Amino acid sequence: MARLVPKHGSRKYVVVLACISLLGVALVADFLWASSSSSSSLNWSNSLDVSLGKPRPKPKAAGKNNKDIKASISEGPNATFADIPAPQLEWEEMAEAPVPRLDGAAIQIKNLLYVFAGYGTIDYVHSHVDIYNFTDNTWGGKFDMPKEMAHSHLGMVTDGRYIYVVTGQYGPQCRGPTAHNFVLDTETKEWHDLPPLPFPRYAPATQLWRGRLHVMGGSKEDRHEPALDHWSLAVKDGIALEKVWKSEIPIPRGGPHRACVVVNDQLLVIGGQEGDFMAKPGSPIFKCARRNEVWDHCIH
Ligand SMILES: *[C@@H]1O[C@H](CO)[C@@H](O)[C@H](O)[C@H]1NC(C)=O
Ligand SMILES: *[C@@H]1O[C@H](CO)[C@@H](O)[C@H](O)[C@H]1NC(C)=O
Ligand SMILES: *[C@@H]1O[C@H](CO)[C@@H](O)[C@H](O)[C@H]1NC(C)=O
Repeated sequence: MARLVPKHGSRKYVVVLACISLLGVALVADFLWASSSSSSSLNWSNSLDVSLGKPRPKPKAAGKNNKDIKASISEGPNATFADIPAPQLEWEEMAEAPVPRLDGAAIQIKNLLYVFAGYGTIDYVHSHVDIYNFTDNTWGGKFDMPKEMAHSHLGMVTDGRYIYVVTGQYGPQCRGPTAHNFVLDTETKEWHDLPPLPFPRYAPATQLWRGRLHVMGGSKEDRHEPALDHWSLAVKDGIALEKVWKSEIPIPRGGPHRACVVVNDQLLVIGGQEGDFMAKPGSPIFKCARRNEVWDHCIH
């Protein structure tokens, strides 16, 4: 939410962005390394160990171009330099989105990107889904979301056809959260209910793992206090196989906006925020007021 008040929050946000970018670059490098036989020889393990418990193939001998860079980063464990030898990424401008969005959610399925909800302005939230087609670079296929569905701070994950949408903030400014959960069948564009969470949350880490929908952390109902709870629900093909969420082992550090992935059958929770804006007490529009936000460092 610091994004809404760039004057005060942007520096911390940049730090978090930098953390995320660094981790992203490291992960990409790690995957390239693991999957390519002609991979570069840069020794990332000096500064970042993002291996996921499985041994990765040894990189091949150094190419000429890499020698200098290697010399500069191989002298000691200094993560500051780990992002220097990243590949040159070229940016290309794509079709403009139909509406501006802050803190919506998006999921890619094959060549389509489903983009949900989000703030248009601090006082207006979207209640629809837009679809971007990567093949022909167009937006289309707008459709409504359920009236009870949250508009930001959603937990979201897909199995490749069904998109599970969990809890989140209902309304603009710093309004309260809802415990309502939904599932979208992207082939029929039909929505169905899922059992509500035991308590509503803001932006919990959400992932499918071993046949269960896992929801971890997020912020509590006051929008600020990190929640440690971890719940799961058995699901299959968009249908809940249980009526109530099961309590699981709590997350050691709670808070909203963590990345969450499953790799090699391990559930990983990465980075994120602790603390957030709260609604100003007594404000009829739930105006966002600053509290002491605390930002987490990159974890992995
Ligand atoms: C990478 O650096 C570490 C620490 O200096 C070293 O133990 C390891 O053998 C190196 N790995 C490769 C592939 O060069
Ligand atoms: C890494 O290098 C930077 C730039 O020289 C330096 O400011 C920083 O203290 C170094 N960090 C470590 C852990 O050596
Ligand atoms: C995406 O674009 C391609 C190329 O125009 C088209 O064939 C395909 O039907 C589109 N997909 C959807 C779901 O509109």
